[in-house]
Amino acid sequence: MNDIVNVALPKGRLGEKVYEMFKAAGYPCEALEDPGRRLTFENPDAGIRYFWVKPSDVAIYVEKGAADIGVAGKDILLEYVPDVYELLDVGLGKCRMCVAAPDDFKDDYRKTLRVATKFPHVAKEHYSGVGRDIEIIKLNGSIELAPILGLSDVIVDIVETGATLKQNGLKVFDALFDISARLIANKSGYRFKREKIDLIRKKLETVKENKDD
Ligand code: PRP
Repeated sequence: MNDIVNVALPKGRLGEKVYEMFKAAGYPCEALEDPGRRLTFENPDAGIRYFWVKPSDVAIYVEKGAADIGVAGKDILLEYVPDVYELLDVGLGKCRMCVAAPDDFKDDYRKTLRVATKFPHVAKEHYSGVGRDIEIIKLNGSIELAPILGLSDVIVDIVETGATLKQNGLKVFDALFDISARLIANKSGYRFKREKIDLIRKKLETVKENKDD
């Protein structure tokens, strides 16, 4: 058991790209390539076991030690601030955290600003840093709808291509920080499996560098 490294992969397009990196790094898993409805996959020869988990849950699995390592977006790490080691920027899932609003938005500082977001902690940190009173409206998706329907004045959300904003008459008013996917590790898992995890990190870094060339 102890010699298998448990990896939480973010289910979806990002996770598939992450798995391709692990595969290129020497950690393939045939079962995962034809998953059906299964969620765990193992390649004992490569010493690896993968789980598909919801992207926003990767950090929880890793923090609690259900997975030794995982790949999570920097947005999730800044929102939940899990107690994990961040080992590598894998260079995938690049986007930006932004404040966006309808094209004609003008901030009225006499009023509390209504902010719709999936990232309440990130939004609160940003606005407390600039001393602006806000009310958070926590949503779980389709955030762009909120200002269109008058539910909020602005949104704090991820912008990748900008297409969702554009097609809904919104624009970026403030870019807060860049985001990309990070390899993270459970703190005690890292102590016990350090050699194996360091090797995975090193090989992933090589795959990343070859991709960038
Ligand atoms: C994310 C984000 C934006 C969109 C940005 O949503 O919340 O809505 O992607 O991408 P773009 O700049 O390339 O248009 P996601 O696809 O995760 O769906 P959600 O609305 O369910 O959160």
